[in-house]
Amino acid sequence: MRAIVLEKFGGLDSLVYRDIPDPEPRAGHVVIEIKAFGVNHAELHMRRGEWAEAAPVSGIECVGLVKSCPGGEFPVGAKVAALMGGLGRTINGSYAEYTRAPAANVALVESGLPWAELAAIPETYATAWTCLFRNLEIKKGEVLLIRGATSSFGQAALKMAVNDGVRVIATTRNRERFSMLEGLGAERCEIERLDLSKHIPEVKKIDAILNLVGNSVVLDCLAILRRGGRSCLAGWLGGLDPIPNFNPLLQMASGVYLTFFASFAFGTPGFPLSDVPLQQIAEDAAAGRLDVKPSKVFGFDEIREAHRVMEANEAAGKVVVVHA
Ligand SMILES: NC(=O)c1ccc[n+]([C@@H]2O[C@H](COP(=O)([O-])OP(=O)(O)OC[C@H]3O[C@@H](n4cnc5c(N)ncnc54)[C@H](OP(=O)(O)O)[C@@H]3O)[C@@H](O)[C@H]2O)c1
Repeated sequence: MRAIVLEKFGGLDSLVYRDIPDPEPRAGHVVIEIKAFGVNHAELHMRRGEWAEAAPVSGIECVGLVKSCPGGEFPVGAKVAALMGGLGRTINGSYAEYTRAPAANVALVESGLPWAELAAIPETYATAWTCLFRNLEIKKGEVLLIRGATSSFGQAALKMAVNDGVRVIATTRNRERFSMLEGLGAERCEIERLDLSKHIPEVKKIDAILNLVGNSVVLDCLAILRRGGRSCLAGWLGGLDPIPNFNPLLQMASGVYLTFFASFAFGTPGFPLSDVPLQQIAEDAAAGRLDVKPSKVFGFDEIREAHRVMEANEAAGKVVVVHA
């Protein structure tokens, strides 16, 4: 099969096209004929050598058709999504014609959506849904602050939260993007900055925060919450550096909750993929209740351009690659 192989750590030229053997059937695993896959920051980090592990074939998610499944967990020919379970990280991932994913990281998605739209769902929507409705336990009428809201993850969370009657305040570094976020249902927007807690009028009144900017604003998020409010750290748009000189006694707000979610938990004990309503999300998309359309769609031969666009923050939404 054709695959995109990580030849070395570094720039866009690290991604090269090679013919490699097809994955063989294996018990407990599903071989998938890949129709399309989303591109993720994790893959940029892996390409640059910034992640703990990186497999020769990158790609943490895909949608496609079951080619073989010796354990019978999924019927051959079924339409499925696969994400995480070591894909692209400890086992070869989705930047190829076929991949072999652990059955625990595969879900059926019966849907007539075009492959490009279906491919925009698994990683982004599964993670956003889990952060909102599991970690943050967000409820109708609550006020949610999304930091880094123009990201594809942020937009997915914004759309699902608004559909559930949550009041959303959204941040971006770029004032020109306020209207886009308001168009998606944000009540209002704020300019993203490291000391947002000193500027946001709703300080100490926010019920929940989805923090996609990262470690640099963890403590600032806690300072924004009302007593009993929850902040979920789930993105690192501001970089991977740790919190310097962290001393809770001097730096932490009292009476608030910090939680964390990383999608590599999917398929591990306590985090079954079946917890996430991927089928319902696909149905909402097909019925027009949720717009999951990717903002950029590339062909399989265009992986370097897909990485470049994401790296340059030019996508303004989900980046997807489709096989011809
Ligand atoms: N926890 C998980 O399991 C999980 C799963 C998926 C993704 N993620 C993480 O979530 C984040 C978002 O992923 P994505 O694919 O949705 O991203 P994306 O669509 O590529 O996000 C791009 C946007 O990020 C914003 N941004 C870039 N640099 C920034 C900075 N220094 N400070 C603040 N905002 C910045 C920009 O918005 P403005 O220019 O409008 O400010 C840009 O338009 C990434 O860090 C990714 O690794 C985590």
